[in-house]
Amino acid sequence: MKAITYDRYGGPEVIQIQEQPQPKIQADQVLIRTHYLSINPYDWHYMRGKPYFMRLEHGLRKPKHTILGNDIYGVITEVGKQVNDLQIGDRVMAAAKLGGFAEYAAVAASRVIRVPEGLDGPNAAALVMAGVTAHAGVHEFGRVKQADRVLINGASGGVGHLAIQMAHATGANVTGICSRKNSAWVKSLGADEVIDYTQTNVSSLEDQFDVIIDVNGNLTLATYKQLLRKGGRVAVVGYNGMPDMMKKMWHQRFGSMDLKVVGVEENRSSMKPLVEMVEKGSITPHVSKIYSMEKFSEAIDHLEKGHAIGKLVVQIPVEGNTK
Ligand SMILES: NC(=O)c1ccc[n+]([C@@H]2O[C@H](COP(=O)([O-])OP(=O)(O)OC[C@H]3O[C@@H](n4cnc5c(N)ncnc54)[C@H](OP(=O)(O)O)[C@@H]3O)[C@@H](O)[C@H]2O)c1
Repeated sequence: MKAITYDRYGGPEVIQIQEQPQPKIQADQVLIRTHYLSINPYDWHYMRGKPYFMRLEHGLRKPKHTILGNDIYGVITEVGKQVNDLQIGDRVMAAAKLGGFAEYAAVAASRVIRVPEGLDGPNAAALVMAGVTAHAGVHEFGRVKQADRVLINGASGGVGHLAIQMAHATGANVTGICSRKNSAWVKSLGADEVIDYTQTNVSSLEDQFDVIIDVNGNLTLATYKQLLRKGGRVAVVGYNGMPDMMKKMWHQRFGSMDLKVVGVEENRSSMKPLVEMVEKGSITPHVSKIYSMEKFSEAIDHLEKGHAIGKLVVQIPVEGNTK
């Protein structure tokens, strides 16, 4: 089978499309014929082996797992002996952790969920990690409720555009932060107000919020303090480098604000609310570009530049491929 591989850490130039043996499934796994994959910052962190501490687990000098990839959509072609709730032919989205970016992926059934008729392949792939993270930020960690004033920093990217819709669907008053080119679109997703970070210094705002969801991760603890209402909550999704991550983790443990560092596990139960929200019409993923498999390096380069709109998806060729 064809797979998106890398055998050394580095930029998009380390990516190769190579023939690899088709994976064999274990008893608790299913084999998925991948049709679409979506990329996340997670993937370029693995590609670069950065932050460096990842290498302790993933390979000090070179990656132990040479096929990238978490978010996939496809069709089940084989079912492990212990799996009794999925069938050959099911259209599914899945979180492969690593090894997903290939024509076939072996994934634990617990990390796979059936996709409803109304959700097409690119949108299903787009939802996996970004959707679970947005849901965790808005609902589990941010505990957003009706009429809360919510600030979402990094509103137009993969996680942000879904978080805006989720907070809006809860009945909150939502302010998004992004650049001017995306402001009208972020409003159309449900933001009541949009702040253009290229024109406004967020730390000088006089507004206050019940919940801050820092997706981009470039706001400081001092800015959170200034913008947070009494009794407010902060959900930290992204970071501005390792020292920033350490500071925010320290604050979570010992600090004065109700601050939670968002950690997620994509599995069937964390993906279920996403499928339900899509079925109810309260969220719609936005795929701004679909790349061919051969253009994967371009896609990951685009994402790494940090200004992708919604999600970037890559199509894996399949005979008679339909959405
Ligand atoms: N904690 C977790 O479990 C978890 C899971 C997934 C992702 N993450 C992290 O969450 C972060 C976002 O992920 P993503 O998938 O949404 O990334 P993404 O799709 O690359 O998001 C990029 C977005 O950030 C915005 N942006 C760029 N510079 C900005 C600035 N100075 N201020 C505010 N917004 C800015 C861009 O908007 P413009 O184009 O308008 O500039 C763009 O829409 C990453 O750091 C990722 O590692 C964490």
